[in-house]
Amino acid sequence: MTQAAHYAPDLAPPPTLEVRGGRKNFGAVHALRGVDLVARAGEVTALVGDNGAGKSTMIKCIAGIFPFDAGEVFFEGRPTHISSPGDANALGVEVVYQDLALCDNLDIVHNMFLGRELKKGFRLDESAMETRAAEVLASLSVRTVRSIRQHVASLSGGQRQTVAIARAVLWNSKLVILDEPTAALGVAQTEQVLQLVRRLADAGLAVVLVSHNMNEVLEVADSVNVLYLGQTAAQVRAQDTSRSEIIELITSGSAALGAPPVASASTINDAPNGSTPA
Ligand SMILES: Nc1ncnc2c1ncn2[C@@H]1O[C@H](COP(=O)(O)OP(=O)(O)OP(=O)(O)O)[C@@H](O)[C@H]1O
Ligand SMILES: [Mg+2]
Repeated sequence: MTQAAHYAPDLAPPPTLEVRGGRKNFGAVHALRGVDLVARAGEVTALVGDNGAGKSTMIKCIAGIFPFDAGEVFFEGRPTHISSPGDANALGVEVVYQDLALCDNLDIVHNMFLGRELKKGFRLDESAMETRAAEVLASLSVRTVRSIRQHVASLSGGQRQTVAIARAVLWNSKLVILDEPTAALGVAQTEQVLQLVRRLADAGLAVVLVSHNMNEVLEVADSVNVLYLGQTAAQVRAQDTSRSEIIELITSGSAALGAPPVASASTINDAPNGSTPA
């Protein structure tokens, strides 16, 4: 049964996205067996977990690619169903997938507007698209691209990631989800992309960042959500946790055993500290 989330008006605004008890099966595979996620505006929420824990499935369910089989989804406090990518886009959910899906033979402007081109009559409104693309890149303090008319094929990995992120924020997005944006990047480019991720949150968006890199998670995230075998082990404030605690949750899911699905930091702090991951 769907229940409205209740948030007192004088308290903090409701999270941009809240998932409770999300489940997803692929035939006999129980990919998600009860996931809980809270993503707030102005914050980076890291989504971490071992290979196969369910991170990409979770993202695809939120993006409406294959909807949750069961569970509740609230957007800005309102119960909602995301059954298609169109539903997700209409809410203001944008996803930057790991493979980026950019078109090498098109320039930056055309990539940013791909599939949603601005038109003037029957023709593309090139100058409006160019102006808007430049505004978005400037608002994100992106200074590393030489020209927005450059073909994407000539960009570095970090620049490509930047274009994909800028494309995601072009559309009045409220929630931007990034699946391992720094996985293929070198040190300097990783730093640039992490700064960009931080700026998205500082601009008021809710950001969900999938990452395997604990250093970057602790550098950029406000909150860390750990998936373990398709279940939420815990969601903790980044400032209240440590690298070793997160790694323990990832490898043993310790807080999943008997703890409430979205555990508070104090629950995590009760977990054995510093023990060696299994
Ligand atoms: N389309 C699918 N059909 C069947 N099983 C799937 C499908 N997609 C994912 N799975 C299964 O669901 C589980 C979760 O996979 P998922 O890709 O979400 O993990 P992940 O946390 O993103 O892992 P990684 O860190 O390796 O990217 C795995 O057991 C996977 O094999
Ligand atoms: Mg994945």
